[in-house]
Amino acid sequence: MWASDDEAQTLEIVLGDDIAGVEVHLLYGVLEACDVITRSVLIKNTGSGNITIEKAHAACLDMVYGDYDVIRFYGKHAMERNLERTHLGHGTLSFGSRRGTSSHQYNPAVILAQRDTTENAGDCYGMLFVYSGNFSCEAEKDQINQTRLLMGLSDELFSYPLAAGETFTVPEVIMSYSADGFSQLSHQYHTCISEHVCRSRFAHEVRPVLINSWEAAYFDFTGDTIVDLAKEAASLGIDMVVMDDGWFGKRDDDNSSLGDWFVNEKKLGGTLSELIDRVHAQGVKFGIWIEPEMVNEDSNLYREHPDWAIQIPGKLPVRSRNQLLLDFSRKEVRDNIFDQICAVFDQGKIDYVKWDMNRSMADVYAGNLAYDYVLGVYDFMERLVTRYPDILLEGCSGGGGRFDAGMLYYSPQIWCSDNTDAINRTRIQYGTSFFYPVSSMGAHVSAVPNHQTGRVTSLKTRGITAMAGTFGYELNPALLSDEEKEEIREQIKTFKKYEMLINEGTYWRLTSPFEDEVAAWMSVSRAKDRALVSVVRLYAEANAAACYVKLKGLESDAVYIEENTGRQYTGAALMNAGIPLPFAVKEYEAYQFSFIRLDEAKKLYDEIKKVCGNLKLSEADTADSSSDKRIVISIYGGSGSGKTTIAAALQQYFFLRIIQPAMC
Ligand code: GLA
Repeated sequence: MWASDDEAQTLEIVLGDDIAGVEVHLLYGVLEACDVITRSVLIKNTGSGNITIEKAHAACLDMVYGDYDVIRFYGKHAMERNLERTHLGHGTLSFGSRRGTSSHQYNPAVILAQRDTTENAGDCYGMLFVYSGNFSCEAEKDQINQTRLLMGLSDELFSYPLAAGETFTVPEVIMSYSADGFSQLSHQYHTCISEHVCRSRFAHEVRPVLINSWEAAYFDFTGDTIVDLAKEAASLGIDMVVMDDGWFGKRDDDNSSLGDWFVNEKKLGGTLSELIDRVHAQGVKFGIWIEPEMVNEDSNLYREHPDWAIQIPGKLPVRSRNQLLLDFSRKEVRDNIFDQICAVFDQGKIDYVKWDMNRSMADVYAGNLAYDYVLGVYDFMERLVTRYPDILLEGCSGGGGRFDAGMLYYSPQIWCSDNTDAINRTRIQYGTSFFYPVSSMGAHVSAVPNHQTGRVTSLKTRGITAMAGTFGYELNPALLSDEEKEEIREQIKTFKKYEMLINEGTYWRLTSPFEDEVAAWMSVSRAKDRALVSVVRLYAEANAAACYVKLKGLESDAVYIEENTGRQYTGAALMNAGIPLPFAVKEYEAYQFSFIRLDEAKKLYDEIKKVCGNLKLSEADTADSSSDKRIVISIYGGSGSGKTTIAAALQQYFFLRIIQPAMC
């Protein structure tokens, strides 16, 4: 995390072991405004011989009392970050990654919660590792019911040599606590990630709505295909076209060419520079896909430098997606790829880069490899974002296999999952939201039947789900009907209208898609004067009871109008009673509700109060129907000036502040 001097302080505790010749520096960073304490560790070899680090955690919390649940986010490729809540009994519960990346399998994040903690109430403690490689999290309950939570580097495949005088850094864990349940904890993490982890200049900017060539064409495209996508994009209101995998070497499938970062001009029908100009000529930005950490055995790079791939000499390498991992712990390997990539990026104005990473690490030939590899990746990214500060970087790893705070330091958005199915996505995005802000989650509308699940959902449902992230499309518009194209135009207008509210507002989970019949979430502006509520029905049932969704984060005593229906509600009514959903006609329907606080009506009400003195009804007034206290308010204005709206809102204010308290 980064912060200015007046935002953070660091406490450094030095522990020394003169006999072993080791010093351990515990660094506690305090960001008071964020309600966050970070901890990282420096291990120094102060002796005269070599030492080996076998295990290194970054943070440790000991709870002397309490009965806890552990919440972790497990998954797999195309179904990342499912929430699992487990009671911590005696013994140790541990999880982590030994895949070289933070992984699809477990996210480097954990919550320790009192057993009765909910979204809205109760104690909970979070730990988030700012690291993109192997990690370990351990929760242990001991014989006298104390609980210890540890987060740090994995000790599997790890054994780090440290020569005399050298220092080893254990990356940082961000710790936070909430006494008011998970929502509050999430808000603390969202703010600290977007304010103090994401360093990109795009972190708080409007992000381009993009269309990606992957699910539109996979490997089967030419330069004209990309230009056609750009033309369609321009006519639909999409800001950017991204040319995904398949533009380099001789790559027409996933068997070859990773490592050969030169443009396949034959396939594109011209130079990259020409293609970029053709795309820009449509008034659309241009983005490109890369996977710099990889090599195929069928590549010039591998033929020249087979030893650059991570392998154990004399053994057959473990292949995954027909590719091997380049040894990014070695500077000469990084330098070669960096030079190749720069030579491509210098060919034209590239607005966006999707950095992919499509396999796990295997053949770990040494105990320092996994750690030094991640530092190598960070070094490469640092050089890339420094050289190209105007390129928006999106992270990716077979979808969301490296969705972590380490990556978010460089790329303010990460492709959340290769699963673009709207219904599965409600779960993936829900789990992701516990630690990571909406602005970090890449989410796209794709074609139906969905390519991963075969499910058919409406364009509206797909749009509403993708709007809970950095929005885009992953389909071929040429295959859409005119009606669908028109709907997309409207969808983009809607997204752009609410984009800053979604990305910069406060995000609330309203239901759990793992338990409830609807998935619902909302964003509330910091001033609490705007709110956007999204709901997706996960299943429909005949003759079902009405379903109400209770909102959160509004001002109880303000009046809000729902933009589309013109209905007015007090914040209290929306939060305590909720909004009724239309009766289900079909499975997977989705709804969006936009609320605006009626500030004009509130101002008017306050004026009336000033003029009329203290407006208060006594119990006698409410009991006595013949009581004749009257105030007549006339509102003037032409047709369409909002008289009716204001009158209805005033009614709500009178009811809420005068009549209801007297009746109670
Ligand atoms: C990964 C990514 C996809 C796509 C393909 C290309 O699976 O997650 O979005 O870029 O690679 O090979």
